Amino acid sequence: PRILLIGPPGAGKGTQSKHIVETYGVEHITTGDALRANKDMETEFGKPREFMEKGELVPDPVVNEIVVAALEDADGFVLDGYPRNMSQAEYLDEQTDLDIVVLLDVGRDELVTRLTGRRVDPETGENYHVEYDMPDDEAVRDRLEQRDDDTEDVVTDRLDVYSENTEPLVEFYEDRGLLTRIDGDQTPDEVWHDLRLAIEDAQ
Ligand code: AP5
Ligand code: ZN
Repeated sequence: PRILLIGPPGAGKGTQSKHIVETYGVEHITTGDALRANKDMETEFGKPREFMEKGELVPDPVVNEIVVAALEDADGFVLDGYPRNMSQAEYLDEQTDLDIVVLLDVGRDELVTRLTGRRVDPETGENYHVEYDMPDDEAVRDRLEQRDDDTEDVVTDRLDVYSENTEPLVEFYEDRGLLTRIDGDQTPDEVWHDLRLAIEDAQ
């Protein structure tokens, strides 16, 4: 399947993408991870880092190029974090069809709690949370890091960027009959249950 996960920062796009990849064997195409791995790459617009640290969008040509390359060798895929504005959505539309677009719906307060408490294991990329999901292994606990853009100030800016630039895509995909809304404010397993049903339905 060709799946697009859309939702605000912290909605669980990365978390749910893992389940999709395990279940359907599709490619995980995530501009956020790709950009974090190339934060200091020189582009004609500057380095991705300069935008990401402020919670701003990295310029379209940079992310479009990442996605088009990834789509080339993907049969099925789950897109996570792209498209993020109208122009990216239109660009994607020229590149491929989608089977389903899923909106993970989560309220703002919960998003702030999730993001400011998130910790990442730099060795495995696994996400944890200071309050409700810390690893048992002390060695893992000791090496956890906070993402540069998970501070309260930047989280606020990221949520505003989402409302302004990305939220309009919900209507864009709704008009095309592709959109399914899922309550993202449930446990990760409950969200996956609903998401899987939606994907099965769309096939
Ligand atoms: P990106 O990496 O895409 O970040 P994001 O969209 O802000 O989303 P996150 O990764 O923070 O959240 P998520 O929805 O994946 O949630 P997760 O599963 O991790 O983008 C980062 C930056 O890169 C952007 O700001 C921009 O600068 C740039 N960028 C990326 N794509 C771009 C594009 N297309 N165009 C331009 N610029 C681009 O979960 C979050 C936390 O909550 C975790 O701790 C997790 O354990 C926990 N959690 C998950 N699900 C649940 C649940 N159901 N209940 C409780 N906790 C949960
Ligand atoms: Zn993510």
